[in-house]
Amino acid sequence: MDATAAGAPILFTPYDLRGLRLDNRIVVSPMGQHSAEDGFANDWHLAHLGQLAVSGAGLLITEAAAVDPRGRISPGCLGIWSDDHVAGYRRIIDFARTHGRTKMGIQLGHSGRKGSVSQSWFGQKSLGDEDGGWEIFNPSPLAYPGRKTPTQISRETMDEVVGQFADAARRSHEAGFDLIELHAAHGYLIHAFLTPILNQRTDDYGGSLENRMRFGLDVFRAIRAAFPAEKPIGVRVSATDWIDGGWTPEDTVAFARELKALGCDYICASTGGVAPEQQIPVGPLYQAGFAETIRREAGIATMAVGLITQAQEAESVLADGKADLVALGRAMLYNPRWPWHAAEALGVQAFYPLPYDRAHPSMRRNNAFVVQRER
Ligand SMILES: Cc1cc2nc3c(=O)[nH]c(=O)nc-3n(C[C@H](O)[C@H](O)[C@H](O)COP(=O)(O)O)c2cc1C
Repeated sequence: MDATAAGAPILFTPYDLRGLRLDNRIVVSPMGQHSAEDGFANDWHLAHLGQLAVSGAGLLITEAAAVDPRGRISPGCLGIWSDDHVAGYRRIIDFARTHGRTKMGIQLGHSGRKGSVSQSWFGQKSLGDEDGGWEIFNPSPLAYPGRKTPTQISRETMDEVVGQFADAARRSHEAGFDLIELHAAHGYLIHAFLTPILNQRTDDYGGSLENRMRFGLDVFRAIRAAFPAEKPIGVRVSATDWIDGGWTPEDTVAFARELKALGCDYICASTGGVAPEQQIPVGPLYQAGFAETIRREAGIATMAVGLITQAQEAESVLADGKADLVALGRAMLYNPRWPWHAAEALGVQAFYPLPYDRAHPSMRRNNAFVVQRER
């Protein structure tokens, strides 16, 4: 079936974000590889992102790239704090443009108090100066349990970080990225300003909801000004902290409304990440309801994420009006051909890169050697 025909699965219909047309609604969720040195994309990133760029997904978002070396989570995080980082990304994007149709987004982030830890396979241990660690920041000097205490970020450093985000946005464009996703989730710096659990400031950036949103909005404004007007920018939020007294879905709706007014194109509704006492009812589609609330209440496009693993589940999220886009993380690592399988399950054709044409189900059946197919 042609995906544009009436009654076709929404999952495989195009979607426009500003001047960017996505082939379909499948998004590869950002996933940190912790495999870079000094923030530079290397062969791992080319192979990893390259295969996902020929997966048939509509959009791929890179792992969080740190805007400051002190904004890395582990020493292996990708970075974009210097012009020297641009070439590594450009190589990946050139590959993606040449061989795939997946649009390429970059997630920009700052780890805040959750930075300076070893890779998960080394136990995510807090790294002191003697282990190659670095100074970490939070709105208030509150340590993540079991880790070192962050410095209370000063107004001067906040301004510096806003400038670093803007520089990173400019470099993202120079590298050729089609889209930016701002990481304002998971207890990292921007989320830490939002949630009253991590923000106990008494200046203009703490206290009221309006004050706690200010830093995130400052950052958004800066990147929106530094990235071309025709290119979309979305924001990933934690729609709830899953902790009493924390950030709530109602707060998220208020934040989404402000972001929309500043030119934000979509909200990706993730959750949690502030502290280990969070109580998350994990299960299929467990975060999709937040995408729905934000979409309805703030009138902005949303991306659902979190244990979306089946084609029909993804389709139902879209058909039920919960979200405009669906992001898949671990399912895409497990099976980078997920979009091909989903297309087959829903009765439509997926994009196959030319050298893989013969793997297409119709070609396998015919055992065809020469394939001429509309691309
Ligand atoms: C290995 C790994 C790395 C991740 N890194 C990031 C990241 O850099 N930025 C982010 O916003 N989320 C990150 N996440 C969260 C995923 O993007 C996604 O939201 C989460 O895994 C839930 O979706 P899933 O059930 O489809 O995997 C990561 C998840 C995994 C498994």
